[in-house]
Amino acid sequence: MPRRHPLIVALVLLVPFVVIVAAAHSVPAKLDHVTFDYFFLDHNPAPSAPSVADCISELGLGLELVGQVGELPNAWLLRAPKHTHPHVLARYNAIRTQAAIQPHTGHALTAINLLEHQLPRQRTKRAPPPIPPDTSAAAIGARLGFTDPLFTQQWHIVNEEFPQHMMNVTGLWEIGITGQGVVTSLVDDGLDYESKDLADNFDAEHSYDFNDHTPLPKPVLADDRHGTRCAGQIAAAKNDVCGVGLAYEAKVAGVRILSGPITDVDEASALNYGFHDVDIYSCSWGPPDDGKSMEGPTYIIHKAFLNGVQNGRRGKGSIFVFASGNGALSGDQCNFDGYTNSIYSVTVSAVDYKGLHPYYSEPCAANLVVAYSSGSGKSIVTTDVGENACSSSHGGTSAAAPNAAGVFALALQVRPDLTWRDIQYLCVQSAQMINPEDPDWEKTASGRPFSYKYGYGQLNAYAFVTAAQDWELVKPQAWFHPSSIQLNNGSLSDPEGTMTGGVPIPPGGINSTFTLTNDKLVEHNFERLEHVTITVWISHSKRGDVEVELVSPNGIKSILAAARKSDLATSGFEGWRFMTVKHWGENPVGDWTIRVSDQSDPEHNGTFHGWRLMFWGSTIDPAQAKTYVLPTNDAILPSPEESESVEVPTSSSTKTHPKPTSGLPSDHDTAEGEADRPAFPGTSPTPSLTPTPDEGWFSDMSNLLSGSKWFFVAITAVILFAVGIGIFYWRRRARHHAAYSSLAGGDLPMSSVSRGAARPRAKELYDAFGEVSDDDEDADEQTMLHPGRSFNEHQEAGLDFHSEFLNDDDPAPAEPTSRYRDDPKPLEGPASPGSGSGSSWEHASQEPSG
Ligand SMILES: *[C@@H]1O[C@H](CO)[C@@H](O)[C@H](O)[C@H]1NC(C)=O
Ligand SMILES: *[C@@H]1O[C@H](CO)[C@@H](O)[C@H](O)[C@H]1NC(C)=O
Ligand SMILES: *[C@@H]1O[C@H](CO)[C@@H](O)[C@H](O)[C@H]1NC(C)=O
Ligand SMILES: *[C@@H]1O[C@H](CO)[C@@H](O)[C@H](O)[C@H]1NC(C)=O
Repeated sequence: MPRRHPLIVALVLLVPFVVIVAAAHSVPAKLDHVTFDYFFLDHNPAPSAPSVADCISELGLGLELVGQVGELPNAWLLRAPKHTHPHVLARYNAIRTQAAIQPHTGHALTAINLLEHQLPRQRTKRAPPPIPPDTSAAAIGARLGFTDPLFTQQWHIVNEEFPQHMMNVTGLWEIGITGQGVVTSLVDDGLDYESKDLADNFDAEHSYDFNDHTPLPKPVLADDRHGTRCAGQIAAAKNDVCGVGLAYEAKVAGVRILSGPITDVDEASALNYGFHDVDIYSCSWGPPDDGKSMEGPTYIIHKAFLNGVQNGRRGKGSIFVFASGNGALSGDQCNFDGYTNSIYSVTVSAVDYKGLHPYYSEPCAANLVVAYSSGSGKSIVTTDVGENACSSSHGGTSAAAPNAAGVFALALQVRPDLTWRDIQYLCVQSAQMINPEDPDWEKTASGRPFSYKYGYGQLNAYAFVTAAQDWELVKPQAWFHPSSIQLNNGSLSDPEGTMTGGVPIPPGGINSTFTLTNDKLVEHNFERLEHVTITVWISHSKRGDVEVELVSPNGIKSILAAARKSDLATSGFEGWRFMTVKHWGENPVGDWTIRVSDQSDPEHNGTFHGWRLMFWGSTIDPAQAKTYVLPTNDAILPSPEESESVEVPTSSSTKTHPKPTSGLPSDHDTAEGEADRPAFPGTSPTPSLTPTPDEGWFSDMSNLLSGSKWFFVAITAVILFAVGIGIFYWRRRARHHAAYSSLAGGDLPMSSVSRGAARPRAKELYDAFGEVSDDDEDADEQTMLHPGRSFNEHQEAGLDFHSEFLNDDDPAPAEPTSRYRDDPKPLEGPASPGSGSGSSWEHASQEPSG
């Protein structure tokens, strides 16, 4: 026998070991359940027992060994052709039965502890419950790659405390909707294009300075910060400066008009500047928010609006966004502002970070939506003037409007074809109700909730843009403007003249009704109602006493004018036009009733001369659509036939618009908001009138109780009483707050104390410091800053506060007529000394830059 080489012997001996090791570590075979049935065999390894192979051959039926089961000793996986498993198990059981009877037969069974058919089974994962995506500002910022240091403070973008109250844009950013290709023009006090946060998104071509007549809108005056801050809200870049804008890849242009007097001609040019390419004009200004002004665009400016919506944006129409105004506590209402109550503007009011109504934000029937701004302790964080400067105290309704403009920019990126009216429709349809318990909400005839404070609700970017994505464009505009209704031959032949005829306003008010027929609508190609405008001719010895309401055929009431304590004007309403969006989508056929009333004050009286309704909507047949031509003599009563209107040039005047911040109370950001009182509680029916089912917020209740009238009257009385009590306490709280904010913290500078001097409680405190306060110093400082204004002018202007410890958003007025007064008593003193020079009161210390 040849001698084997020891190495070979060693190798031969090693082979089984290597094979076993390799098998033990082999990747488990992929089982083929389509072709085979699998079995698990637990083998008894006793030395006397048959081997696994013996067992397999004993069972037969095509069984074969696959291999060891994992790392388990004596556990083997077998397989047999598919569908044989019943036979295999039957054979196994048969052998076992037989072995029980004749033990010598089934010797293989002594080696099989267990034979089991293997079926694939789906195991349920023990995964933790799905983790919701991290919605903290830091996590969202990280996901989107933001390095902007103030991003996490921009609660209007991510509100960690009240997540239901934010602009809700980040979901759009995550799918690439960032405003690309959209241009917004800030018609304001300049735009710091040298800010690192704005430089990349600045559109120089469509910018212009109408104050200094230079090509670029460089902020010059110390208080020229507002436009830059608003621009930052819209398009502050994604970089390492401050925060980001809502449409941070959109472009912003600056048109500077607020830093001094400008002519109407320039204002009109500004509102159309670059209008083929500019999509949105963000306007956070208007007549003074003093509760006594009533001003609107003059003819040429009105023409610019019309030109914008008809020809701007290559025919789709410029989007004009206007802030509703900051004068609510002075009783101001946006329906006394001809810019916000224009059908061509989207009027935006403010709510604060808790979703509450800030006391400065003006209510009215022309309010379309609300967006977030200052109040209840927080302000808007945005870019400021300076290369690397940020503001964390921006606010007022003028910060709400740019937030809306930012949302529209996002929508126009995905739907550049939306017309100016589509944007308004989308506002109406996508706005979200907030504070459902607020008594200011009413259901409109079209079933939507509407509030004078919130319009149709909170503008939610995600809801707006997703609605825009599959929005069907509305048909062109239609209108029906019935002739004016004269009361007792009431007339006004010259806008500067006196009104004649008319009916004296009796105690309890006077009604007049117009009946709209379906035939008239069809005749005017009019399908669906949108805006209603109402022109009124009313003379009165105290305009602020006059209340005007419109009741639709469906019993929906629009309060157009509530009493305004400060409005002592004797000129009445010489063809003033109110606007309401509350009848949007309502079937307008039937009786429209206007009710004009006053306070039945024996010292004051008035006469109702006439009125005119104008219905605006969409066409039945788009092919028959016409182009609206602006009449030049709108204010004439009786109104001339439209076709006869001839355009005549109007004299052009110069005016200064007050700074957007000029009416903004200095505690706009700190004062707690509310959501528990109607905007116009005072307009409830006078006791002499029986409430009718259309009495505003009574309406729902009246439907419930229509069967028992006396009961309803009783309930009404109770509610009126409760509302009265509510107002009493609310006012008391407001005053208390004023006193508190003046007193709190001994480290507040005197200026804050004197600021509070406008309020009754604080007044005492102010007096306690004596006649000479630092107001005088303020005035001096301001006189130095503005040599054009005398000390006395400042005194007259009521510059009794400034902003040392706050910032320049404070309500230092731009001009005398625009001063903010929250004194419940009527104002004394000169009504309107005309416009001042370029306004500035800037002596706030520079805010820390981020
Ligand atoms: C806010 O946006 C998210 C998407 O990012 C959406 O799921 C959510 O419904 C939106 N919230 C509201 C109130 O529309
Ligand atoms: C209105 O004027 C017409 C004539 O223009 C006159 O006949 C009518 O009596 C006047 N009505 C009133 C109430 O003065
Ligand atoms: C005015 O109209 C209301 C219903 O809208 C009615 O109750 C009231 O009596 C009317 N007043 C006058 C003076 O006609
Ligand atoms: C107020 O009443 C007086 C006396 O009746 C009247 O002469 C005057 O025209 C009225 N004023 C207005 C604005 O109606």
